[in-house]
Amino acid sequence: MEILPFVHPGSSTWSYVVADTVARRAAIIDPALDYDAASGRTGTASAQKLVDAVRSRGWTLDWILETHAHADHLSAAQFVKHELGGKVAIGEGIRKVQATFKALYNLDAGFKTDGSQFDHLFKDGEHFAIGGLEGRVMAVPGHTSDSVAYLIGDAVFTGDTLFMPDSGSARCDFPGGDAGMLYDSIHRILALPEATRLFMCHDYGPGGRERKYETTVGEERRSNGHVKEGISRDEYVKMRHERDATLPVPALLLPAIQVNIRAGHLPEPEGNGTVYLKIPVDKF
Ligand SMILES: [Fe+2]
Repeated sequence: MEILPFVHPGSSTWSYVVADTVARRAAIIDPALDYDAASGRTGTASAQKLVDAVRSRGWTLDWILETHAHADHLSAAQFVKHELGGKVAIGEGIRKVQATFKALYNLDAGFKTDGSQFDHLFKDGEHFAIGGLEGRVMAVPGHTSDSVAYLIGDAVFTGDTLFMPDSGSARCDFPGGDAGMLYDSIHRILALPEATRLFMCHDYGPGGRERKYETTVGEERRSNGHVKEGISRDEYVKMRHERDATLPVPALLLPAIQVNIRAGHLPEPEGNGTVYLKIPVDKF
């Protein structure tokens, strides 16, 4: 198994290429689209690096895996699919996220909340393959109701459930978020063997340290400031609620969610051929 990390500088998102180098089959996890909020312009320079990594090695892309409907960046899933093929997949909890945000954005009746914009919806515990690599899906709701982690070999791609030990855990104050649920989800991951490698979806390099993307179950159990051994569920929930109350709305939440609930498709162009994103006023 080979794991190639790529950082998306605009959102500090880690995207990954995961491959069975013998079978030459790969998956891409959480590809990010570039988006400039001031101009409304999208770009594919960052996602192109993922595409080039797969193409230059002659790998076939089986999957484009989303860990959840991200609130901080637009997904490049459809660009990657257009370039390399592969099935765009996410957890089945996306249906709930779609229903919540369909109401918020007042999307028309044609917007389906059955997840059918994706090629595949994963159930908790579902198995999948990347060549000879075996993957297993872990539903880890809490940050969002659709969050999943992907266990592939001895590696877990955690999405936003966990951050590096000095950065704790993800916020739970978006619609559908639940701190108690996140605590339980994190502990499902921390129940895996100590040496299990954990690959982060984000790292902001706190205090000016270099950005990191990899840790282990053992390291998180020993030293994660939010969820290390000894911190109770009640303590965690209290801390999470207090901390979330201080956090600003992510800069790209409103543009990102309406693309990401469409599996990375932009909304249909209007009569003049232009695509528009909607901004609900005074709702966040
Ligand atoms: Fe997130």
